[in-house]
Amino acid sequence: MPRLSRRQFVTTASLAAVAGAVALRPSAQGGPHDAYFQRLQAALRQAGVGTPTLVIDRERLQANARQVVHNIDGRMQLRLVNKSLPSLALLDELTRLTGTTRQMVFNLPYLQLLAQQRPHSDVLLGKPLPVAAAARFYAQRPSSGFDPSTQLQWLIDTPERLQQYRDLARAQKIPMRVNLEIDVGLHRGGIADEATLLSMIKLLQEEPLLRWSGLMGYDPHTEKIPDLPGMRQAARDHVKTTYQRMADLMLASPVGQHQPQPRTALTLNTAGSPTYRLHDGRGAANEVSVGSAMVKPTDFDTPLLADLSPACFIATPVIKSGPFQAPHGVEWIGQAAQWWDRNQRHGVFIYGGHWLAQPVSPAGLAPSGLIGPSSNQQILLGSGLQGLHSDDFVFLRPTQSEAVLQQFGDIAVYSNGRITDWWPAFPAQA
Ligand SMILES: Cc1ncc(COP(=O)(O)O)c(C=O)c1O
Repeated sequence: MPRLSRRQFVTTASLAAVAGAVALRPSAQGGPHDAYFQRLQAALRQAGVGTPTLVIDRERLQANARQVVHNIDGRMQLRLVNKSLPSLALLDELTRLTGTTRQMVFNLPYLQLLAQQRPHSDVLLGKPLPVAAAARFYAQRPSSGFDPSTQLQWLIDTPERLQQYRDLARAQKIPMRVNLEIDVGLHRGGIADEATLLSMIKLLQEEPLLRWSGLMGYDPHTEKIPDLPGMRQAARDHVKTTYQRMADLMLASPVGQHQPQPRTALTLNTAGSPTYRLHDGRGAANEVSVGSAMVKPTDFDTPLLADLSPACFIATPVIKSGPFQAPHGVEWIGQAAQWWDRNQRHGVFIYGGHWLAQPVSPAGLAPSGLIGPSSNQQILLGSGLQGLHSDDFVFLRPTQSEAVLQQFGDIAVYSNGRITDWWPAFPAQA
């Protein structure tokens, strides 16, 4: 074999490196909307939509609701998570499909709204509200016939808050139902030990205006724990044993013994979308909460929710579509990036942006690392294979439904290839 001179060696190595780099370049990705999104785009056009719009696919929503009911199979009660489905019409649809009037509510304005507008609801607070919020509720009682003494459960996490609610009940001379939040491992809040629970039992025993109505133990953390051997299962087991221990303690106490039919009359709530499949009624809990899974944003693309379909999308018009040009002064960086990655050659400016959402159709679009996000006209980069033109739609999937569903005005309901309804969303509220 002939020996290479030093110069020949350097030249050959450089050529090899360039050839290697060229071979490693990402290939051009993406393509136009598939048949599903083409139909959705046509429906939006037919409805004259020209602004960013939140769309719910009604058939998919219905299928998800039926699937959730099928999975629970009557073994537990179902409670709808109000904040994750923030529209009365959406909640009505799910109430009809699932047959539950139970809702978990997380703030005073939505509590007032629900109690006034849907007086047959059974409400459990999902967050312990400051007693001032509870006092405000009683100061402006709903005129709808909603009866807080039988239809509302306040969530209480500490002995101090229990005392505050007790003082409110005494001052107002009204009975109040209180559900105790227990910490089953998330450590977000709630009663973490038996001594605290016993002190709260004592407070409940001493005040007949306070009526114990159940427990709430929320457990989504188990599905976020790394799935190293045994770790996740240990966390799941801990949820159930902790719940059982707290429930046993309550039921054996004078407060629990006072209950006529402990298991069914009590609200022993657990879970949320990520974990509802882990509960089958054989544990102490008798009710699961489900909200987000009904519309399935991207954060809920998890194995336990694999049988549900994405049912909410953000549809937004394209303002400008063309070869991507980095801003003046850094054009060369854009050109270098485009040489390396053909998926940065085409720029699509959309109407709005910077939402908690991920582009989903047409495939192959991604935000620009060079330009960054914009709430006014965000740029998405792609190969150009998407074939987008001005006034076409880009579709994104929200990462969560809470708050995001309320950013677009009325929600467009897509059914059988048409926009058939517009559902008002709740006013944005923390
Ligand atoms: C107490 C509680 N239960 C249940 C849920 C579940 O909601 P989702 O089903 O929308 O995940 C939440 C969400 O924050 C929660 O805080």
